[in-house]
Formats: sequence, C-alpha cells, structure tokens
Amino acid sequence: MLRLGVAAALRAGRDRAPPGALRGPALSSAPPQPLVVELKAGKKYAWCSCGHSKTQPFCDGSHRTAAPGVSPLRFTAEADGAAPLCACKRTRSPPYCDGSHREQAAPPGPRP
Ligand code: FES
Repeated sequence: MLRLGVAAALRAGRDRAPPGALRGPALSSAPPQPLVVELKAGKKYAWCSCGHSKTQPFCDGSHRTAAPGVSPLRFTAEADGAAPLCACKRTRSPPYCDGSHREQAAPPGPRP
C-alpha cells in the first residue's frame, strides 16, 4: 500500500506514465494498490470513479471525454488522517479500499 499526502498522490498520478502515453489503472497487469492519502476533516474531495484521471485517486475531469456518463464520487472527510483510497475502482465501499484489488475474477481498470 502506498502512503502519500494529497500533493504527492497528485504528483504520482501525473508521473506514472511518459507524456503522451495512455494512462490509467488498466495499463498494468497487476491491479493498482490503494493510495493512502492524508485527508482533512470537513474538506470536500472528488474521488475518480472511472480510472482515467491522471491525478489518482482524485478526479481531474478526464471522465468527461474518456468515460461519458461516469461521475466522480464527491465526499467529505469525516476526520483528519490517512485513508486508503481505492485505485483499482473495484471497491464495494467507494472511495475507500476494501481489498477488492486482490480478487482475480473482478474486471480490471477504468470504465469505458
Ligand atoms: S476523471 Fe475519473 S471520475 Fe473524473
């Protein structure tokens, strides 16, 4: 599990693939691991639910062109502290990781 601050998570999302390359969780054969980010109580976040954002685990608006009809999950952090946010987009308790990335039978990656 990666442990990142929000700014580092945003940088990591941008730095995963070379410029011009397709990006997203489906590009790897291994399911993406959850991203642990520091959340602030009362602050609103938009978790990427489509898998196409370059700033995982947060939405960057890519769903508008890459996955029309899919919207980010908006949530308000209830407490300060580290939270494991789902990066594989298979979680049954979004935006939080529930361990679904370990399941082999689930379909991988971003939604069309
Ligand atoms: S980029 Fe994925 S939900 Fe917005």
